[in-house]
Amino acid sequence: MRAATYDAYASDNSRLTVGDVPDPKVGPGQVLIEVRAAAVNPVDWKIMAGGLDGMMDAVFPVIPGWDVAGVVRGRGPDTPEFAEGDEVMAYARKDVVHAGTFAAYVAVNASAVARKPDVYGWHEAAGLPLAGLTAQRALDRLDVGAGDTVLIHAASGGVGDLAVQIALARGARVIGTASERNHAHLESRGAEPVTYGDGLADRVRTLAPDGVTAVADFAGDQLDTTLAVLTDNGRHASVADPTAEQHGGHWIWVRPDGRALSDLADLADEGTLKVDIAGVHSLTEVGTAFDESRTSHARGKLIIEP
Ligand SMILES: NC(=O)c1ccc[n+]([C@@H]2O[C@H](COP(=O)([O-])OP(=O)(O)OC[C@H]3O[C@@H](n4cnc5c(N)ncnc54)[C@H](OP(=O)(O)O)[C@@H]3O)[C@@H](O)[C@H]2O)c1
Repeated sequence: MRAATYDAYASDNSRLTVGDVPDPKVGPGQVLIEVRAAAVNPVDWKIMAGGLDGMMDAVFPVIPGWDVAGVVRGRGPDTPEFAEGDEVMAYARKDVVHAGTFAAYVAVNASAVARKPDVYGWHEAAGLPLAGLTAQRALDRLDVGAGDTVLIHAASGGVGDLAVQIALARGARVIGTASERNHAHLESRGAEPVTYGDGLADRVRTLAPDGVTAVADFAGDQLDTTLAVLTDNGRHASVADPTAEQHGGHWIWVRPDGRALSDLADLADEGTLKVDIAGVHSLTEVGTAFDESRTSHARGKLIIEP
């Protein structure tokens, strides 16, 4: 099958190529998905640079990509819950970095797979799993609900945009940080935008003079502001700053979870959760998509169509 691969760690795109690799085997506990769309996440190029080598083995050549939407074309002997032809999506992280989603087919643990939302196209469905599960996990850990005023750092990003929508759906008031060119977008979601950078704590206090009850950080390096604007019993969590734990907060890592992803599919079908698309790229353009993701300013998900 055709796949994008790299044969060694690199902090640029120099090891990326496209070629033929063996079709994936479909083992027990797995389903084989014909990839209709995959999505780029910052972790993909961070892994390519060796950033997770301390915690995960990589077997080269590596097919990058952890997000997928597609059609079930095979299944292991113990996965009767899926049938050939099912339209599904998954956050397809595995224990070893090797057989990712930027390929014609990927074998995925069935426990990570959920039905594709009826209202989504393939691109939107591919863009939801990793970012949506991250947003949901952070807001669950913070127990965000009605009565909360939540500050979301990086509210216009892949994770932040979904967190804004989930927090609003739970009845919270949402203040979100973004570049000014993304403020109209945040307002269209129902959030109150503020510009990040120097003076952020003052700008947040202007909107919420009594402080915010929860902070979800999807940017990193925001702890001073977070602690300055939180109420006394406020909760905070970060997906990009492990030191949050040393200051009474949560350090969040997303985990493949088909059931939690099904809940997100339900929200999508209710019209509560929208995924914006920044661009669609072929397998030969994975490097271009990585470059755009590396800017940290793509507005929407970057999609790979094999
Ligand atoms: N721990 C986990 O499990 C986990 C899971 C998913 C993601 N992450 C991490 O979370 C981060 C965000 O991921 P993503 O997919 O949302 O990335 P993304 O789509 O590239 O979004 C990046 C966001 O960062 C904002 N931003 C850029 N520079 C900033 C700055 N100096 N201060 C504050 N915000 C800034 C951007 O806002 P503007 O464009 O409006 O400027 C944009 O909203 C990445 O570091 C990623 O690796 C961790």
